[in-house]
Amino acid sequence: MNWKNIYKEKLVSAEEAVSKIKSNDRVVIAHATGEPLNIVDAMVKNKENYENVEIVHMVAMGKGEYAKPGMEKHFHHNSLFVGATTKDAVNSGRGDYTPCYFYEVPGLFRDGYLPVDVAIIQVSKPDKYGYCSFGVSNDYTKPAAESAKLVIAEVNENMPRTLGDSFIHVSDIDYIVEVSHPLIELKPAKLGKVEKSIGKYCASLIEDGSTLQLGIGAIPDAVLMFLKDKKDLGIHSEMISDGVVDLVNSGVINNSKKTLHPGKIVVTFLMGTRKLYDFVDDNPIIASYPVDYVNDPRVIMQNYKMVSINSCVQVDLMGQICSESIGLKQISGVGGQVDFIRGANMAKDGKAIIAIPSTAAKGKVSRIVPLLNTGAAVTTNRCDADYVVTEYGIAHLKGKTLRERARALIDITHPDFREPLIKEFEKRFNDKF
Ligand code: COA
Repeated sequence: MNWKNIYKEKLVSAEEAVSKIKSNDRVVIAHATGEPLNIVDAMVKNKENYENVEIVHMVAMGKGEYAKPGMEKHFHHNSLFVGATTKDAVNSGRGDYTPCYFYEVPGLFRDGYLPVDVAIIQVSKPDKYGYCSFGVSNDYTKPAAESAKLVIAEVNENMPRTLGDSFIHVSDIDYIVEVSHPLIELKPAKLGKVEKSIGKYCASLIEDGSTLQLGIGAIPDAVLMFLKDKKDLGIHSEMISDGVVDLVNSGVINNSKKTLHPGKIVVTFLMGTRKLYDFVDDNPIIASYPVDYVNDPRVIMQNYKMVSINSCVQVDLMGQICSESIGLKQISGVGGQVDFIRGANMAKDGKAIIAIPSTAAKGKVSRIVPLLNTGAAVTTNRCDADYVVTEYGIAHLKGKTLRERARALIDITHPDFREPLIKEFEKRFNDKF
């Protein structure tokens, strides 16, 4: 049958689509900016018809109403990365958190750990062959759709068409809801003195011809600001945001020296404004692949001079890095941090950078601490730790003894917090600082 007829037969309203979800189903919602907003709203409105629907979601950037108090009977949230709208549910016991590496999530769906009953996704309009692109959210969303018993898709005219391994044919979708809402956007962060100083130090570690992974937020944006004079940079990153567009347009990022996928920006999801979404639309330099490829350390390591830049909550004097909890309180997740730190560490001439403001909570606490808070998760272990950068400088930990690491970390701690760390150093190593 002609795909256009198949498409028409599958068209339903959001209300009708969510009536196909049954009690006790496991529902996977598309990641981050790819959240299918109308279907999620309709599902929440239809709550009286469900009991114990498990919602598996990673970065939840929509309203997160399924995780609000009063929803327990209808929905149980299983978070793979806690965020602003879901952290209360997870930390109060109404929801749960499943620790996992981002690159392993598709395997959890495929290999019987978290079998998917329903995938709710958002895709571009079909091309002339009937293929819709996963656009801003390929990551675990494509693998979830491929392993789900039922696929419900928003087809959004605003979803860009990203190229790569990023397509689903209309015949593989069960129900289609046409929408035209704007995509979720993430505005560039405001950059202060601290972020700029960190950006400068990170940029000093990035050689011409490097391939970069940059996380979310102010620090990656600040790093990009200081790369204007570099040459032949490339991108292999789980995500990119607006800052990358200007560096591509100015020719700094040309991907020419990449040893894997030369000429291409390799990504698995996108988080920015319309400027980014328009830039990636049908752009042949963008190669979007599912996260089990992009984030696999064995793939990442094939990029020579791979530099990963991520952030954390706390680092202790041994170089143990907590990036996801404050004590026992879960505030985010592992995400792709360890995937990229391991990949960069294994790459020829690679560097794995953790870049952080030296303090948190409006300057009240140091992020560099003698011991992690009780219950804190060690996201990146001390053997994987390589560089730590604050606004006070660079600590290179790889290959260093515990004593050398402690010295290097104290040197980049905020001066107001060095005293207790020095005392701890002298006690621990029976040595003068
Ligand atoms: N003690 C107390 N509070 C702390 C803290 C600490 N050591 N460190 C952070 N916080 C607080 C902050 O003050 C802030 O509070 P607020 O929301 O009330 O302002 C909050 O926790 C978030 O911290 P902040 O460091 O400002 O957040 P961020 O947006 O820069 O993100 C991470 C930092 C570590 C949470 C984030 O990078 C992350 O989730 N990393 C893990 C996943 C990852 O690296 N993925 C790969 C890249 S996409």
